[in-house]
Amino acid sequence: MAHRFLSPTNRFSARFAFIFTVSLSCTYLCYSIIFCRSTIMTNQGYDEKRCPPSRNAGGKKLLGKLEDCALLDARSALEESRDRRGSSDVRDQSKTPASSGSHSTELKLKNMSVAQRYGNKKLPNALIVGVKKGGTRAVLEFIRIHPDVRALGTEPHFFDRNYDRGLDWYRGLMPRTLDSQITLEKTPSYFVTREAPRRISSMSHETKLIIVVRNPVTRAISDYTQTLSKKPDIPTFEELAFKNRSLGLVDTSWNAIRIGMYILHLENWLQYFRLSQMHFVSGERLITDPAGEMGRVQDFLGLKRIITDKHFYFNRTKGFPCLKKPESSSQPRCLGKSKGRTHVQIDQEVIEQLREFYRPFNVKFYETVGQDFRWD
Ligand SMILES: *[C@@H]1O[C@H](CO)[C@@H](O)[C@H](O)[C@H]1NC(C)=O
Ligand SMILES: *[C@@H]1O[C@H](CO)[C@@H](O)[C@H](O)[C@H]1NC(C)=O
Ligand SMILES: *[C@@H]1O[C@H](CO)[C@@H](O)[C@H](O)[C@H]1NC(C)=O
Repeated sequence: MAHRFLSPTNRFSARFAFIFTVSLSCTYLCYSIIFCRSTIMTNQGYDEKRCPPSRNAGGKKLLGKLEDCALLDARSALEESRDRRGSSDVRDQSKTPASSGSHSTELKLKNMSVAQRYGNKKLPNALIVGVKKGGTRAVLEFIRIHPDVRALGTEPHFFDRNYDRGLDWYRGLMPRTLDSQITLEKTPSYFVTREAPRRISSMSHETKLIIVVRNPVTRAISDYTQTLSKKPDIPTFEELAFKNRSLGLVDTSWNAIRIGMYILHLENWLQYFRLSQMHFVSGERLITDPAGEMGRVQDFLGLKRIITDKHFYFNRTKGFPCLKKPESSSQPRCLGKSKGRTHVQIDQEVIEQLREFYRPFNVKFYETVGQDFRWD
């Protein structure tokens, strides 16, 4: 009402003042939002400034860049309590459900991660697709030390068993990541699943594939040893491996044998993916030179080489490399009891027969991937 009595000039300045105030407020609002966001999207530097110095400074690096102090504390408390229990399958939540002690911490953690939705869930950029008993768990546990990698601890079996649930379900399983981080999962059965290459390429042609391979004879025995530990009354290895042993007729319908015919499965993948999208990790060298193998994995994923020989030590009792004790926990991280377990004794002659059987498949495989794994 008042402006009706103002002169045209005054009316103009009033209008000007009004517009000026509004635009100033807008600018202020925008700045606040931007500033607020950038503080929320904490980076490591910010973390260090803001978080009170805690016992687990070293652990932070392991946990990626996107958690804030409270979440970090809850997470490290959870990990510490796990470590205290001597949990074996590090971070594998499906295999080591929290016991009563850390249960409330886990709940709190869950609440917090729901509350603080930093980063986005993305479909994986890279998959460890195989092979069973090749050393896939080790590669996953080793690579996830890298701050630019976020990995799913469990095997989602999406491209073999759960494909009907759809990509949204699959994405929902993934950890939250920043744009700079790689999302990774591993399911070793993908490698021998006929539909997996087509399904994965229809998710993205650009998916990077990691395949951990190992001498197929040792792999088969390791596979059998694992099955035997669950079902002690299965037939002997020899009985299962041969249709007719005196004729040297191998039973290729037995999974433990079939999985090791790598070239057959690889040909299926090569119909959908270029060889340059695949990286083959030697299961043998992963044990003798974990840092070297992990160096190549980091190169393949386009990551800075952060995981080096400083991260590993060799446990002679176990015959397996372990991750050095992170500052945050009381124990070093070795893989579970089932990893690197002693195999059942198999007659040397049987081993020779199987070696003969696999030789042509191995040779073809070396030629195709352009790498000699020296299994013969
Ligand atoms: C988690 O949140 C639920 C409600 O959303 C609450 O009832 C529960 O007490 C919370 N748990 C912890 C440990 O904070
Ligand atoms: C294996 O083959 C030999 C020679 O043909 C035959 O005599 C024997 O019965 C076969 N064994 C089995 C278990 O089929
Ligand atoms: C090495 O492995 C053995 C057997 O799994 C375990 O008992 C021992 O604590 C490990 N030692 C170190 C130093 O990791």
